[in-house]
Amino acid sequence: MRRKLIAGNWKMHGNLVDNEALLHGILAGMGDVKAGVAVSVPFPYLAQVKAKLAGSRIAWGAQNVSQHAKGAYTGEISAAMLNDFECKYVIVGHSERRAVYGESDQLVAEKYAAAQTAGLVPILCVGETLEERESGVTEAVVARQIDAVLAKSGVISLANAVIAYEPVWAIGTGRTASPEQAQAVHAFIRGKIRGLDADVANNLVIQYGGSVKGANAAELFVQPDIDGGLIGGASLSAEEFLAICRAG
Ligand code: PGA
Repeated sequence: MRRKLIAGNWKMHGNLVDNEALLHGILAGMGDVKAGVAVSVPFPYLAQVKAKLAGSRIAWGAQNVSQHAKGAYTGEISAAMLNDFECKYVIVGHSERRAVYGESDQLVAEKYAAAQTAGLVPILCVGETLEERESGVTEAVVARQIDAVLAKSGVISLANAVIAYEPVWAIGTGRTASPEQAQAVHAFIRGKIRGLDADVANNLVIQYGGSVKGANAAELFVQPDIDGGLIGGASLSAEEFLAICRAG
């Protein structure tokens, strides 16, 4: 039985004072949470979350990583640096990275591999735009994004990874995919992996992301192939994030 994983994605939000209150609030409400919980925070706050969350049930991670191990890459952050802050997870291929920073499937696959080489668990984001959904290519897009990772790292790499299905049209828009729409894509993803390795497919955590809130989390998480969520906006409120965690 797969355990649900709820991961917050703070994006470029927060400051030392607000983070302290947010983390305090989440920690205080974890008593009745059964799911795995993690937060992905901006790089400068990794030391803060490590200090605050060490020894708790909440894991932490980053939102991006360099594909390179080290070198003359001004402004970049390596996977080994994330290890120094005891990150467990790192998000790779978030649609904002793909759309705003031009990250290709190939680059995302390199970042995924760099994260795994350093022992981090990549959360690989995949998902289609509204235009792609409306032209009927959702599965082709998601397959292409996953195939780049499979070509570089192989299906066995998914034994130490998480996939987050995040339809771009649902991110930050308040327009959540219906449980049926999300489940259909999750089942497609798991079926694709099952064709390569049944054990890996059965154990693979596939999160849904895109306007998940306390009010809609349960109906999403009850779907057979939805194993929790990657939570943006709602992860910035302890109360709302905890409501989602409790639905997991
Ligand atoms: P959202 O973001 O929950 O604010 O839609 C999800 C994400 O981008 O990971």
